[in-house]
Amino acid sequence: MIPDQITLGSTDIVIKPLGVGAWAWGDRFFWGYGRDYSPEDARAAFQASLEAGIQLVDTAEVYGMGKSERLTGQFIRQSGKSVVLATKFYPYPWRFNRSQLVTALRGSLRRLGLEHVDLYQIHWPLPPASLETWGNALADAVQRGLTRAVGVSNFNRQQMLHIETVLLKRGVTLASNQVLYNLLNRSVETNGLLELCRQHKITLIAYSPLAQGLLTGKYTVVNPPSGIRGRKFSTDLLNRLPPLIRLLGEIGHAHGDKTPAQVALNWVMCKGAVPIPGAKNLRQAQENAGALGWSLTPDEIAALDRITSDLHPEKGETP
Ligand SMILES: NC(=O)c1ccc[n+]([C@@H]2O[C@H](COP(=O)([O-])OP(=O)(O)OC[C@H]3O[C@@H](n4cnc5c(N)ncnc54)[C@H](OP(=O)(O)O)[C@@H]3O)[C@@H](O)[C@H]2O)c1
Repeated sequence: MIPDQITLGSTDIVIKPLGVGAWAWGDRFFWGYGRDYSPEDARAAFQASLEAGIQLVDTAEVYGMGKSERLTGQFIRQSGKSVVLATKFYPYPWRFNRSQLVTALRGSLRRLGLEHVDLYQIHWPLPPASLETWGNALADAVQRGLTRAVGVSNFNRQQMLHIETVLLKRGVTLASNQVLYNLLNRSVETNGLLELCRQHKITLIAYSPLAQGLLTGKYTVVNPPSGIRGRKFSTDLLNRLPPLIRLLGEIGHAHGDKTPAQVALNWVMCKGAVPIPGAKNLRQAQENAGALGWSLTPDEIAALDRITSDLHPEKGETP
């Protein structure tokens, strides 16, 4: 059911339907880089992902204030292999004209040590500049050969259709929309974004596909995530997690001892989206890559849909 390879939007970029997220590589503030895990751990996570056949690596100029791009660039050079590199432009309030996007992209390329990226995304649909401005700026970046494809992130249906129209006038297609999607947050199913992406051949890239670790089963009401992350999840949600984690375990058992994390990632792929789980070390990267190569049955997907239909998770975060 899950294809071995997928095409990113209607581009010529072909990838496995699972990527890896690089936010934690270099980010001390939210993830504890340099405290809870080392640069060597991050490098091992990158290397293990590549060895498992994963090509898509997602970073952003804001992750670790540029550190994630620098580390990812180093890892790529040390590996001697090519990846499908995605990064993002942040529309800060002081960015309001087209040329600022190309300047920001050149900054990302310098930190990455690359001549072009594969996917350049607008991180959030924020003012003050209009979607026309950023759509045209993305088209400029493609025409200058600085990116192979363009995408958006955290765009709702109207915003996505709007920027798609701006791009099409310039002869460029919208390859992807990266949004929050996991078993605990299924709003892209209910608000129609997932279906709209399918109809328009826009790849839905699912961020936080493990609900920032909750779906691995290691966090409980007596052992919540530490720091800022711990404050995002309500006690009520943590109290209601165990039946879901049990079901993920039972389903995983039926597939040769797949873990809850692997089942949760497989579920996202079965829905037609591309999850990009973050991995802080070798073990996490290897485990996450084990979500590839098999598929949940329709009955198992239906059971997971049923058990999560009334779970509403994180405070304040919407796609
Ligand atoms: N576009 C956007 O606005 C946006 C927003 C958020 C994320 N993203 C992208 O999406 C990527 C992934 O999202 P995310 O990092 O927020 O959340 P996630 O992938 O749901 O969770 C990642 C975290 O879960 C834990 N983990 C991962 N694999 C594990 C395993 N096999 N076993 C045990 N624990 C495991 C690790 O943290 P601990 O070990 O500390 O628990 C890891 O840092 C990011 O790296 C970034 O590229 C984009």
